[in-house]
Amino acid sequence: MGNVTVIGSQWGDEGKGKIVDWLSNQADIVARFQGGNNAGHTIVVNKKKIALSLLPSGIIRQKKSVIGNGVVVNPQALLDEIRSLKKVGINVSNKDLVISENASIIFSFHKNIDSIREKLKGPNKIGTTGRGIGPAYEDKVGRRAIRLGDLRNKENLKNKIKNILAYHNTILLGLGAKTIDEKEIMIEIESYRLEILKFVQRINPIFFKAKLSGQKILFEGAQGILLDVDHGTYPFVTSSNTLPSSASTGTGISIKQLGFILGIVKAYTTRVGSGPFPSELKNNIGTKLGKIGNEFGTVTGRQRRCGWFDSIIVKHSLEISGADGIALTKMDVLDNFEEIKICVGYKLKGKKIDYFPNLDFEQNNLQPIYEKHKGWMENTQGAKSWSELPALAIKYVRRVEELIGVPVVMLSTSPKREDTIVVKNPFIS
Ligand code: GDP
Ligand code: IMO
Ligand code: MG
Repeated sequence: MGNVTVIGSQWGDEGKGKIVDWLSNQADIVARFQGGNNAGHTIVVNKKKIALSLLPSGIIRQKKSVIGNGVVVNPQALLDEIRSLKKVGINVSNKDLVISENASIIFSFHKNIDSIREKLKGPNKIGTTGRGIGPAYEDKVGRRAIRLGDLRNKENLKNKIKNILAYHNTILLGLGAKTIDEKEIMIEIESYRLEILKFVQRINPIFFKAKLSGQKILFEGAQGILLDVDHGTYPFVTSSNTLPSSASTGTGISIKQLGFILGIVKAYTTRVGSGPFPSELKNNIGTKLGKIGNEFGTVTGRQRRCGWFDSIIVKHSLEISGADGIALTKMDVLDNFEEIKICVGYKLKGKKIDYFPNLDFEQNNLQPIYEKHKGWMENTQGAKSWSELPALAIKYVRRVEELIGVPVVMLSTSPKREDTIVVKNPFIS
């Protein structure tokens, strides 16, 4: 029995929330390690839909939940999320939730800067979630971020605010935008300081004890590998590394403890925001996928772009992640398609290629090469065992496995917790 690290293998929204919720039943600790409230992880329990952005999905089952140092935390957004869970009967206390004292804070000015930048870019905008993720990670790497533990020492905090504002106000002034007032930041901080500090701790001892006592940790990735700042469709990516190795840097746990690496893969492809998407369907098939799959962003409500399954991008993601298995989600969305296509390669400047290129001028010019499959045209929604699947659906799964070179260990057939087929439990590997 080891740990499990869950990552998204496409452009996010693969169904990580549902799978993490299913797995967290067997975990002792669930930890988020990168991203922030740009994530939207949906869990459906007893017909009730719960969307989480910052809280690890294990919180629903009252598992010990940790927000690691690699996450950028907007304290206001986090406290709002805790309040909204209370309304559905889930109380989050500091026994259940711990936030790393060295996680960086997202302030309201980060959000404003995110939106100013997007406006400046005009048609070339990234299409961010507008949550200030990029500017907050830049401050972290630029060594001027304010971290949650800093809220404990007011004198020190004041100096840090001066330092961060000196940087941002110079740029804002140059842009002719409204500068940030020190007092306003102090008021913002005071509105949550004491409440958030109840959850803030050193997280290293939790993981160290877990190792000694054999507790199982479930690492919950956000976004997807194609949104990784190094390996994704740069610059149309998020500002963190979404690879499983971030679970190590983002919590302070050894890479040897990541355990089973589980890639979450949607049976077709979606993307929110701008950027290359070779198998995108800008036609009525794409609209049909979006409608049946209910493809609207959890965080921003934006319509997700839809397309056929692209085996090349998934293979790329799983190879660089070292995935041991995948959970294939949303199979049921393909139930009513006479013909289903899988992208098995691309044409680039008239030449066939079987890999995903790294550079945008190549990614933008890929023409997908498709393989056609007969649709099963039968209901798989709610299937709980392999024997309930039509032969053509099984054939599709087998072909996906063959193309990506990684076995399907879980299969999801509806948003509901219980509609999950387990081939091999990732915790028992
Ligand atoms: P995440 O960001 O990876 O956690 O994914 P999201 O929650 O943003 O989006 C996935 C959506 O698909 C959510 O609305 C889920 O409830 C839903 N979902 C997850 N698994 C399945 C499935 O197997 N079938 C269907 N139809 N919906 C699913
Ligand atoms: P989950 O965890 C899908 C996308 C945005 C945009 C780009 C950069 O729910 O899978 P950012 O706000 O991070 O600077 O935006 O990344 N993006 C996501 N797309 N799912 C997500 O998270 C995403 N988080 C960010 O749409 O294209
Ligand atoms: Mg999502």
